[in-house]
Amino acid sequence: MRKKIVAGNWKMNKAFDEGKSLTSEIVNIYKDEVKDDVTAVICPPYIHLHSLAGIIGNTTNVFLGAQNCNDHESGAYTGEISVDMLKSVCATFVIIGHSERREYFGETDEFLAKKVDTTLKAGLTPIFCCGEPLEIREKGAHFEFVTQQLTNSLFHLSADEMKKLVIAYEPIWAIGTGKTASAEQAQEMHAKIRAHLSGKFGDDVAESISILYGGSCKPSNANEIFAGKDVDGGLIGGASLKARDFIDIIKSF
Ligand code: PGA
Repeated sequence: MRKKIVAGNWKMNKAFDEGKSLTSEIVNIYKDEVKDDVTAVICPPYIHLHSLAGIIGNTTNVFLGAQNCNDHESGAYTGEISVDMLKSVCATFVIIGHSERREYFGETDEFLAKKVDTTLKAGLTPIFCCGEPLEIREKGAHFEFVTQQLTNSLFHLSADEMKKLVIAYEPIWAIGTGKTASAEQAQEMHAKIRAHLSGKFGDDVAESISILYGGSCKPSNANEIFAGKDVDGGLIGGASLKARDFIDIIKSF
């Protein structure tokens, strides 16, 4: 059985006190309302991680993730954060290759392959993001584009390593735009991704990997999107900034 996962990517939002209140609210409502078969991951800005770990405590199935990490283990990389530092503040997931990092920080598939290695070596779970821009979708080249991203960044891994990843499919045209992919478009791409992984790593591995959808996912559309048989949850931006919305998305399964 694949894990159902809903991860909230706060991006560069929420000052410290706001982050603490939001997390307390999420944890309290999660405990009251959610059956703990859905894993919730909160991915705040780095500087909140340590305190939020204290708030989450040992709440079953609620975890912390970082939005990024450095590809090196340690050293003279001013301003950067290492995987060991993330572990030391109780993060267990790391978002790798979000389209905003690819676009604004020039992160390439090859560079992301290194980050995936560093993250796995540290025993953290990468949430590896892929997804096509609008012009590629309009040309009908989206399947090739996304599968190529996976090949370039992940196909050097062993099957055992691959099993440890979570994939997030996030069409760039749907991120923060209010325009979500239809449930059919999401399912179709997720099935393609799974088939592509199966071709390289085998059916057992491909069937065990959770593939999340991201891009304007909200309480009103999550249920339909999550109904897809290859859709195992969501990576949520805007709607993860409100506890009620985030929890309602988690409850959409
Ligand atoms: P959004 O962002 O839900 O605000 O569209 C999703 C993401 O970027 O992960």
